[in-house]
Amino acid sequence: MKVIGIIGPMEEEIQILKEEMTIHEIKNIANMEFYIGCLENQAIVLVRCGIGKVNAAICTQILISEFKVTAVINTGVAGAIHQDLNILDVVISTDVLQHDFDVTGFGHPLGVIPRMETSIFSASEELLNKAYYASEKVLNNSKVIKGRIVSGDVFVSSPQLKDKLWNSFKGYCTEMEGAAIGHTAYVNNIPFVIIRAMSDKADGSAHENFNEFVNEAANNSKEIVKNMLKQI
Ligand code: ADE
Repeated sequence: MKVIGIIGPMEEEIQILKEEMTIHEIKNIANMEFYIGCLENQAIVLVRCGIGKVNAAICTQILISEFKVTAVINTGVAGAIHQDLNILDVVISTDVLQHDFDVTGFGHPLGVIPRMETSIFSASEELLNKAYYASEKVLNNSKVIKGRIVSGDVFVSSPQLKDKLWNSFKGYCTEMEGAAIGHTAYVNNIPFVIIRAMSDKADGSAHENFNEFVNEAANNSKEIVKNMLKQI
């Protein structure tokens, strides 16, 4: 049986799904509440992981080990890096990496995790295409782009770092969890996809824009997830 794990980092990112799903049971593990139930006739486990890569990795591993999810979808918001992206547009991950993984002191390129066969974790092509297809039906005024998402334990709010994330990694947008979710899913051989709507442009106005647009952006991402569940 398919069971889809759905992770949102913050309450704003899961609340709207929580309201729409049928909840059969709630389990608390590692200070995270897991909502077990269904949405669009699909068995799901919805959870708020909290902010940052460690929280995201813990949460993903629990979904896989305890709840036996067969796929992981991450919904939420991000800071736009690519110049074509506007606030409320959406990026669906082709792959993810950790932009703050820094072993350059040993000669490794930034973002490379030594002694792993890869530091770039590819999203499931099937989930990516389903999310993209689902997005065409629900978003009227916002663009949807397939591209790389780069994650780090940093809220990006400077043009310098934003430029670096494009120049070094060709990251279309940045957030703080996706690559940890992708990394954890990868080592467990579980398909994943990250869906993020832009709350800001990761520049000097990021804080203000984030506060203004977080709910609207989270709603765009949620609409895609919900529509995607119909054809999983
Ligand atoms: N999530 C939303 N906006 C972000 C930003 N600018 N940096 C990191 N994570 C984010």
